[in-house]
Amino acid sequence: MMAEQLQQLILDTLDAQSTLPDSRTLKISGQSSPASSHDAQITILGALNSLLSREMITYETHEISSHVLTPEGVQIVREGSHEARVWAALPERGSAPLSAQDLKKAVGDEAAKVGQGRAFKSGWIAKEGNGFVKAVPNITDTTQIELRELESSGTLAAGEKALAELRKRKLIIQRKGQWFTVHKGANFTTSIAKPETDLTVDMLTSGSWKKSTFKKYNFDADGIPTSGGALHPILKVREEIRSIFLEMGFEEMPTGTFVESGFWCFDALFVPQLHPARELQDTFYLSDPSTSLPPPSDYYKRVARVHEHGGYDSIGYRTPWSHEESHKLLLRTHTTASSAAMLYKLAAKCRGEDIDGDLTAKSQLGIANPSHDGFRPAKLFSIDRVFRNETMDATHLAEFHQVEGVVADRNLTLADLIGFMRTFFRKMGMKNLRFKPAYNPYTEPSLEIFAWHSHLEKWVEIGNSGMFRPEMLAPMGFPPDVRVHGWGIGLERPTMIRYGVNNIRTLVGHKTSIENVENSPAVMF
Ligand code: PHE
Repeated sequence: MMAEQLQQLILDTLDAQSTLPDSRTLKISGQSSPASSHDAQITILGALNSLLSREMITYETHEISSHVLTPEGVQIVREGSHEARVWAALPERGSAPLSAQDLKKAVGDEAAKVGQGRAFKSGWIAKEGNGFVKAVPNITDTTQIELRELESSGTLAAGEKALAELRKRKLIIQRKGQWFTVHKGANFTTSIAKPETDLTVDMLTSGSWKKSTFKKYNFDADGIPTSGGALHPILKVREEIRSIFLEMGFEEMPTGTFVESGFWCFDALFVPQLHPARELQDTFYLSDPSTSLPPPSDYYKRVARVHEHGGYDSIGYRTPWSHEESHKLLLRTHTTASSAAMLYKLAAKCRGEDIDGDLTAKSQLGIANPSHDGFRPAKLFSIDRVFRNETMDATHLAEFHQVEGVVADRNLTLADLIGFMRTFFRKMGMKNLRFKPAYNPYTEPSLEIFAWHSHLEKWVEIGNSGMFRPEMLAPMGFPPDVRVHGWGIGLERPTMIRYGVNNIRTLVGHKTSIENVENSPAVMF
């Protein structure tokens, strides 16, 4: 029976007899199980709720426990109990007895085993010689009769004791059920036309609204989720890191230059021109245009000289300088390229130049007057995208974000760098740090940064740091007592840890689910 037909049946029944005292008595046509069955009552409940929402009816629920037959119970209804089948298989007293072997063949192993015992206990069968015979001419298979009664009516007149026995024999199981008493509701009618959900202009002009029934507002219904914009987890973590830098008095470097020259990405940082990181398989080079405009000429010459011949107490790399290598355009492999450009600007006054570009215009530090040699301290940071020709896997993409902090001041020491990192990372919630000596072409000493990961319960490498080398700083024009130190970390890894993401591709790229982005909580350190 279709849902609508069932609703109609309920309404018609109510129309005829004003209430429906027991929903189990409903005459549902074309239903295989009786109206009293569990499934039927579930279907009826659906119809009742639909009518209730339109206030066409009201109903009360009555809880009952009903019984359903197990597969073994069903089999007994069809074929009789095991003991009855054993009895039926045996010959009358006086005839040749049936051996245990043949009994098994006749009724099956299982029925022979269980049925034999029960039939003996009831005095239905008797042992004779090596076999069995009927002990009585007639029996009443109560088990079958009770199960049949349960199957058709859902109840048993014999009562709870008999039910308990059948349950114990695992022929039936108990099931909680319900039935309903139904009354007419405030909007009772026998027509189940769908109520209107909207008052339209047409209804108003035609006047049809007067005869229409309207669906009531459901103030308990959940509203449609609003689809506002949401910050990607990486951007949330970026904002947090940004605010830590700002609160520590750092100023953000302009990092819009995704494309850099080999000069700014590597040469200015005293990365040898033959360094493996500069090779094709590690760095993306541009083909059109493929070369940069010339860098500032005097500075360029000083950088080329320190690479090729040394200077500033360094012996240099002593390999021929390649203009071509220096002029190649590439996608920057680290934000330290931007840091180098900013430091070059910071040293402008030290070089006796009158301009120091964007830095003075924007810098709060620019307010401080530079000293006699033109130097003024600076605390700079950046968070932006970098590119590496990586084989992509669960934790590596060819582009990612770097966070970088750089401090320039006179007579800074390694302890200052370590102190700066401890302060910074504590604010990020990483209280336990360790540092390991490392190698960077542009810093000496260099330190790898490890943080204790309390969920993973191990030390994870989070970044890299160091004191920038004189070979990098001196050609820029910084006075010899000026030291610059810095560190860099990736942004993706802390974000993945924070949001419990273990594959980078679920965070970045076409497999990112918008829903995850919308639902990712704002981060608290
Ligand atoms: N550029 C380094 C990297 O890519 C990070 C770093 C920045 C190291 C500043 C030292 C100083 O890992």
